[in-house]
Amino acid sequence: MRLKDKVAIVTGAGSGIGRATANLFAKEGAKIVAADIEPSLGKELVEQISKNKGTAVQVAVDVSKAEEVKEMIDKCINSFGKLDILFNNAGIEGPEGLLWENEEEDWNKVIDVNLKGIFLGCKYAIPRMMKTKGSIINTASELGLVGTTSHPAYSASKGGVIALTRSLALQCAPYGIRVNCICPGATETPLLNRWIGEKQKKQRTQQVIEEIPLGRLGKPIEIAYAALYLASEESSFTTGSILLIDGGSTAQ
Ligand SMILES: NC(=O)c1ccc[n+]([C@@H]2O[C@H](COP(=O)([O-])OP(=O)(O)OC[C@H]3O[C@@H](n4cnc5c(N)ncnc54)[C@H](O)[C@@H]3O)[C@@H](O)[C@H]2O)c1
Repeated sequence: MRLKDKVAIVTGAGSGIGRATANLFAKEGAKIVAADIEPSLGKELVEQISKNKGTAVQVAVDVSKAEEVKEMIDKCINSFGKLDILFNNAGIEGPEGLLWENEEEDWNKVIDVNLKGIFLGCKYAIPRMMKTKGSIINTASELGLVGTTSHPAYSASKGGVIALTRSLALQCAPYGIRVNCICPGATETPLLNRWIGEKQKKQRTQQVIEEIPLGRLGKPIEIAYAALYLASEESSFTTGSILLIDGGSTAQ
């Protein structure tokens, strides 16, 4: 098992990439803190992990709220006595459309969840990870590296996640804590479904697929395996890295 005796917090654990990763980490021996803003999703996941003979506890958290994030870290320490892996994965798509027509409130929300949420997770986790010399993995996106005509605020938030990851990797290196980010491309999750929308769904999905050199969408488990590598000792010399899992989209 690649994460035997490790303790991992996964945010956005209730759905999509977070859910696949929490299940995979549990299968590989980690004890899981399943954190999600939707308590019912977190609960379902904990039941699923327990059914598969894994160990998990649930935390309802809005990652953009400092007090709730602090409580999430406390719950991890109180439940399992330590923290080895922090997967800062919760994210939302934010407002669609022309940037100058986006509402300030919508801009604030996507930055608060996608970027500030990672700041808060790191702020409260790192002092607890000094002993375990653990691994932090942040979910950015291919759209943190290239532009998009549809969701510029999202793209800005993910560009911020990449920059944060690289600076934090430098600050954490003397303490033996590694910080990396993953950049998924279009992956089959509820977020992607919302992004594509219900209008002309088939046609719009086909357009997305046509832009991917491997000719298909990613699967949540394919992103989870990248997170597993960065969480495990196999990546012990890797920090500050930007791992693209996008079917070749950004290679074009
Ligand atoms: N699916 C893709 O194509 C894709 C591509 C690149 C990056 N990503 C990123 O991957 C991450 C996971 O996305 P997904 O596709 O699995 O989406 P998803 O919508 O399936 O899952 C996201 C989960 O995060 C939770 N969440 C939302 N806001 C939260 C908050 N404030 N606090 C705590 N939890 C919250 C939701 O309840 C949900 O369970 C996100 O950061 C997303 O930006 C996704």
